Amino acid sequence: MSKPQMAALPILDQAAGLRSLKAAQPVRVIAVTSGKGGVGKTNVSVNLAVALAQTGKQVMLLDGDLGLANIDVMLGLQPSYNLAHVLDGKCTLEDTIMTGPAGVMIVPASSGKRHMAELNSLQHAGLVQAFSELNRPIDVLIVDTAAGIADSVITFSQASQEVIVVVTGDPTSLTDAYALIKVLNRDHGVERVQVLANMVRDASEAQSVYDSLRRVAERFLDVTLSFIGGIPSDDWLKRAVRRQRAVVEAYPNCPASEAFRQLARRADSWGMPNGARGNLEFFVERLVQQPAANSPTGASAPRLAGVAVP
Ligand SMILES: Nc1ncnc2c1ncn2[C@@H]1O[C@H](COP(=O)(O)OP(=O)(O)O)[C@@H](O)[C@H]1O
Ligand SMILES: [Mg+2]
Repeated sequence: MSKPQMAALPILDQAAGLRSLKAAQPVRVIAVTSGKGGVGKTNVSVNLAVALAQTGKQVMLLDGDLGLANIDVMLGLQPSYNLAHVLDGKCTLEDTIMTGPAGVMIVPASSGKRHMAELNSLQHAGLVQAFSELNRPIDVLIVDTAAGIADSVITFSQASQEVIVVVTGDPTSLTDAYALIKVLNRDHGVERVQVLANMVRDASEAQSVYDSLRRVAERFLDVTLSFIGGIPSDDWLKRAVRRQRAVVEAYPNCPASEAFRQLARRADSWGMPNGARGNLEFFVERLVQQPAANSPTGASAPRLAGVAVP
């Protein structure tokens, strides 16, 4: 008997998987990103996920920092499998899922150097298939990305319905956030960005961080920025990180936890996306159909908070 054609099988399975998902409910996909590293993306992703799960939502958290995976470290989890194993055909996506606080479903990344843009077409098909086979109800998918304008960051952000850009009051965080928003907007058609000010002293600092970014972004780019609030600089959060716990679960009454719950209420009020575009399969299809990110456009450098921005 002749062997079945290897390439044909995954495509058939994929089509069946996608059909079974057509009737599924829309999934809100949120990418959490930043221009600069160390501004709190992973903490925001984890705590937003847990805060949403605490309100009864089914939340999946995808570690999209493919070079420097760290959601598992942040939560003291020891994954046996990650996304790279799925792509290599060693396990299913279901096998990688770990249960975090409040039942958050966590998909760990590999700590290799693999970028979405480097996957070949069979692996792309495999990824779509992996997500389409997932037989779990999901309301929200949160993607914790790497920092900056790396291809994978652009790819995840462009494929998501909402992009949260995390900034701090540090001028380099602001200029790097502007550079990222510029590339997303000018080269990749992202028209709406949610800005979260992290590690701020108080509400008025959060507002002024947002105002500086908005002034320059709305003047030079065709983009709408929305302010989704601030997370205070909070030693309880640092303590939770050291204990490898989510602060909203470990210290629910501290100021940062209160702010994360408020953020979750805001994210919830965005409402569900309309129609099939909101299904998980479409997120993954958009994800794998992205062309490699272009180099940033060479525009004259505007100034932000007194600092020339790229
Ligand atoms: N709101 C906050 N208050 C105090 N410290 C914070 C806060 N957010 C982040 N940090 C500190 O910054 C570090 C880096 O955060 P992380 O979420 O890993 O950033 P990123 O994912 O952007 O690299 C944390 O380990 C923590 O010590
Ligand atoms: Mg991180």
